[in-house]
Amino acid sequence: MIILLTGGCGFIGSAVIRHLMNKTKHSIINIDCMTYAASVESTAKFLKDSRYKHEQTNINDLNSLKKIFQKYSPDAVMHLAAESHVDRSIDGPGAFIETNIIGTYNLLEASREYWSNLEHPQKDNFKFHHISTDEVFGHLELNESPFNKNTPYNPRSPYSASKASSDHLVRAWRDTYGLPTFITNTTNNYGPWHFPEKLIPLITLNAIHGKELPVYGDGANIRDWLFVEDHAEALVKAIEYGEPGDTYTIGARQPRTNLQVVEAICDILDEIQPTPEGTRRQLIRYVADRPGHDFRYEIDPTYAEQKLGWKAKHNFEAGIRKTIQWYLDNRMWWQKILDQRYAGQRLGGKNNVR
Ligand code: NAD
Ligand code: TYD
Repeated sequence: MIILLTGGCGFIGSAVIRHLMNKTKHSIINIDCMTYAASVESTAKFLKDSRYKHEQTNINDLNSLKKIFQKYSPDAVMHLAAESHVDRSIDGPGAFIETNIIGTYNLLEASREYWSNLEHPQKDNFKFHHISTDEVFGHLELNESPFNKNTPYNPRSPYSASKASSDHLVRAWRDTYGLPTFITNTTNNYGPWHFPEKLIPLITLNAIHGKELPVYGDGANIRDWLFVEDHAEALVKAIEYGEPGDTYTIGARQPRTNLQVVEAICDILDEIQPTPEGTRRQLIRYVADRPGHDFRYEIDPTYAEQKLGWKAKHNFEAGIRKTIQWYLDNRMWWQKILDQRYAGQRLGGKNNVR
């Protein structure tokens, strides 16, 4: 297959590209405009491979998107490009509306024009796979069942509202125009190449440097953690076997409180790199909560596991150990980001708590 993939220099997109290049024979056209969150290094080794092309284009440039479709005649689209950080969506929601909603609309329109002019059998086999989040379902109390594909939408942050909007557009383009779309909604990912604004890489780098470890609120919020390489494998199964019109909720059944996550990072680093100052748990600081902080996310992945023949291979303990070792081994990559793009400062309206 020739797969047109957006956001392939980001955290999850680059894991999908590495999986596609290393484990399949598919070809990839990566559309990524290289925002602050992109890393050219994450896919650089494929630049000389004839199966991989990078088009540095913004998904809001409809004319360029149309030309790219004509130039490469893709068999499928995997749409990952997005603004992805909740805290940044609180500080500046505009970019989330532009990329996540308008950008998805443009990609749907370019796909529709291209697909409607295809001939049998390429037209019958075409797929548009939209990669989304479990945050569109809102949040759960402790006693509520995990999200599944029938959970009603109830987004609560500018980020999740923009992703929910894009999910609705993707379904509307199928129901109205017949574009063969489907959606995967996934829990929190973690692993190599994760931009250090998110909880796990931020805490890991602060802990390596002996800096304070900011825990929002009381640290009791729960996230369900999926190792990014397991997610990449699921997404590739989805583009190969997913059915237009369907929805797959993907997760690893690994819910942890934020405090458990931060303590696990401290303990593993203490074991690998002990310091004379004693346990890194002493660096934990409870800081002002995120406005509108979702309490708990958890996915029931049973349906996706059955339909896609996939199951996450890593539990949290195995995945977090690999992740921490990767950050210890790849200082060159993150040091440049800390120096030039993001130094670990608090994001997300810290002076704006209700
Ligand atoms: P990321 O922020 O690491 O990467 C996003 C990539 O998209 C970047 O390389 C960026 O340059 C590119 N991009 C952004 N705006 C663009 C535009 N207008 N045109 C072209 N390229 C653009 O994000 P991620 O964590 O890899 O997430 C990928 C997708 O998965 C997103 O759609 C996100 O909503 C979804 N998702 C993420 C998680 C998670 O835990 N990270 C969980 C579930 C779903
Ligand atoms: P994050 O990685 O931003 O992902 P999301 O908000 O999409 O779940 O945050 C994960 C959890 O960690 C979330 O409950 C907010 C919390 N958090 C902290 O406690 N401290 C931090 O410095 C950050 C960035 C997040």
